Amino acid sequence: MKRIYFDNAATTALDESVLAAMMPFLTEQFGNPSSIYSYGRETKIAIEAARRSVASILQAHPSEIFFTSGGTESNNTAIQAAVRDLGCEMIITSPIEHHAVTNTVQHLDDLDAVEVKYVKILPDGHIDLEDLERLLAASNKKVLVSLMHANNEIGNILDIDAVGMLCKKYDAVFHSDTVQTVGHFPFNLRNSHVHFITAAAHKFHGPKGAGLLYINESVRIRPFLHGGGQERNMRAGTENIYGITGFAKALELATGNYEKDRAYLTRLKTYMHEQLQNNIPGISFNGDVTGKSLYTVLSVRFPKTEKSEMILFNLDINNICASGGSACTSGAEQGSHVIRALNNDPTQVTVRFSFSKYNTIDEIDLVVAKLKELV
Ligand SMILES: Cc1ncc(COP(=O)(O)O)c(C=O)c1O
Repeated sequence: MKRIYFDNAATTALDESVLAAMMPFLTEQFGNPSSIYSYGRETKIAIEAARRSVASILQAHPSEIFFTSGGTESNNTAIQAAVRDLGCEMIITSPIEHHAVTNTVQHLDDLDAVEVKYVKILPDGHIDLEDLERLLAASNKKVLVSLMHANNEIGNILDIDAVGMLCKKYDAVFHSDTVQTVGHFPFNLRNSHVHFITAAAHKFHGPKGAGLLYINESVRIRPFLHGGGQERNMRAGTENIYGITGFAKALELATGNYEKDRAYLTRLKTYMHEQLQNNIPGISFNGDVTGKSLYTVLSVRFPKTEKSEMILFNLDINNICASGGSACTSGAEQGSHVIRALNNDPTQVTVRFSFSKYNTIDEIDLVVAKLKELV
């Protein structure tokens, strides 16, 4: 059986036209962008064109766009800079952030650099905005709020405009991990009260190891890597030219095809949701599946049985790639921190299916038929 890839929230396949846009910089246009002769100038021009394109799509200023190695570096940088350079002494975050955020916050907490507060999660997996306001109002310290735009495990989407307004009201710095939404949703950063957002090209058919950190022009942070003058003295090191050009091309494609891709993927997700509900008894779903949710992610809870505990393993044997809310190592369930924080129900097994434009309804039919057998 041909492999079925339903793990697009983990990473996506490189689009052929993105590869084509990158190729010249992997072959003949190899100059160092800092060199002053033509080879260098050509690659420098390509980087700045990529920055302008990305800035225009996100409705930001090119000077607010910094290219990085991905979501992890961008999240680390934003959070650490908010504490180091912007005077934040308290971080308000949630227990369901990606590890790139939770472990950075934990690290700062371990160093006693900050006080950390966790906002409550509602039963449907959304952030309790009333609790967020209570925490903000009760703090007499400068606060960094770090809340992700869309959750990579359950798909729930945060109202970042509402959170931005709260941060504005309480003069807090706002960082949002937008790794699952850049390339999947339109952004208007000019009208958003967010100070830092992050992205990774490989989540929208771009290359791995290419990311972005948006830093609003109102905040000034110190360099994140010391060395040469690249990225306007903020991130030293010879630029990943093919990654940067690939990032920009992937974002251009995703933006150009947004309406079409969104409609198509929504149809896939809705279809799989219905098929599972109709065919597998006792099944349920994590998060706000039919509400404010990513159209790419469907997080499914199967009743725990001897068979369903082996489900990821058996899907893999059948050439179906999906991921657990849990890491299954030699039969030992480690469990996902997100699923644990939401619903620590030991009688259920979570599997995340996540879709891309390359998936089809036929693949969903095959996967649902296989799941019927496997559980
Ligand atoms: C929400 C979220 N944040 C951060 C990351 C980390 O991105 P990267 O692997 O590109 O560093 C990911 C990807 O796994 C993610 O889904």
